Amino acid sequence: MTGRSPQPATIEACPNGPLLVRGDVELVDADGKPIERHRRTVALCRCGTSAIAPFCDGSHKAIGFVTPS
Ligand code: FES
Repeated sequence: MTGRSPQPATIEACPNGPLLVRGDVELVDADGKPIERHRRTVALCRCGTSAIAPFCDGSHKAIGFVTPS
């Protein structure tokens, strides 16, 4: 028993930035292998320039990534 209540999963698309994933979801790579999470909320890159993909490293700001409105 972890003492932690399950948290529903949510995905928030940040304007001009990453996808924020919160809650109890399992992240896996293209081969289906689990990707270790260190936080309950993770930011996934959607600009394609992160050096730590699939996670956001803030590079979207440097390239001026803009999402459609
Ligand atoms: S969205 Fe932040 S580095 Fe790609």
